[in-house]
Amino acid sequence: MRIVEIEKVSFEEGFEKSLRPSNLDEYIGQEQIKKNLRVFIEAAKKRGEGLDHMLFFGPPGLGKTTLANIISNEMNSNIKTISAPMLEKSGDLAAILTNLEVGDILFIDEIHRLKASIEEVLYSAMEDFRLDIVIGSGPAAQTIKLDIAKFTLIGATTRAGMLSNPLRDRFGMSFRLNFYNEEELGIIINLASKKLGYNIEEKASNEIAKRSRGTPRIALRLLKRVRDFAEVENQKTITQKIAKYALDELGINEHGFDELDIRFLSLLANAKKPLGLSTIAAALSEDEGTIEEVIEPFLIANGFIEKTPKGRLATRKSYEVLNLTVGSLF
Ligand SMILES: Nc1ncnc2c1ncn2[C@@H]1O[C@H](COP(=O)(O)OP(=O)(O)O)[C@@H](O)[C@H]1O
Ligand SMILES: [Mg+2]
Repeated sequence: MRIVEIEKVSFEEGFEKSLRPSNLDEYIGQEQIKKNLRVFIEAAKKRGEGLDHMLFFGPPGLGKTTLANIISNEMNSNIKTISAPMLEKSGDLAAILTNLEVGDILFIDEIHRLKASIEEVLYSAMEDFRLDIVIGSGPAAQTIKLDIAKFTLIGATTRAGMLSNPLRDRFGMSFRLNFYNEEELGIIINLASKKLGYNIEEKASNEIAKRSRGTPRIALRLLKRVRDFAEVENQKTITQKIAKYALDELGINEHGFDELDIRFLSLLANAKKPLGLSTIAAALSEDEGTIEEVIEPFLIANGFIEKTPKGRLATRKSYEVLNLTVGSLF
């Protein structure tokens, strides 16, 4: 059986892991989620029980995996992490489930990508802590019921809309992660540079925060690049000057847009009329899901595009950003 623990950790992931906060106090922002989690964690501990199953959803890099790990720390419980696409057969999941101990956390990342046959195993596991295993086939098939330990499933997904209803219904709680504001990102950048052994000017962290697309993962990656520039200059303080220079050198747009954002906005702006999702997907050669759940949320949250009944529309703000003449729509 293939399990993720053997999964190779890339350098980038290793860097992220080393900066990952380990408790709720170090986890910046997402105040409402933290407030709720604190209550649920305390209540569960008082009762001496495990937590309800929970689902975290939202765009990549906002801290879903981090939260799952923090919860296991706060609960003093083991966490087993798997990525849904790594599970090939329902037996793979069954083997993991039967090895869990009471109170363990099973974190399934990208849970929207579970195969249907594997997902079905989860239903009775989540609801009754029981596995229904079918042995053999045809008239000789037998179902064996197997009790498993009371565990907590934490699911994470960028595509909440793709979860089946039966699976969604089995989560006691679900939390949507929001984009971070510049102040929160600034704090994250500050703490991370301290951990890396660098001082950072407030204006430098603001500069990075501004261009991080509301996303801690992007903020940390930019910080890493900026730090490289500081290192070459033999500076132990990341100044605004270095940050600005590095970010410009890297071609990071002042709004944090990446290449896909620019292509997306240019397409909409040049169309000068609302475009449907499938049209956009075809024009950008991207799948609809990526557009809807990865690219659009940030652009909508920041007023660069609007969703109308007729389709997506570039706003005045995106015309300005793209330095285009405002379309006839305005
Ligand atoms: N609220 C936060 N406070 C501090 N650091 C964070 C926060 N959220 C995310 N990070 C940092 O960003 C990185 C990416 O977060 P991660 O949990 O892997 O995102 P996701 O699983 O949602 O894609 C983490 O390694 C962590 O260092
Ligand atoms: Mg993750």
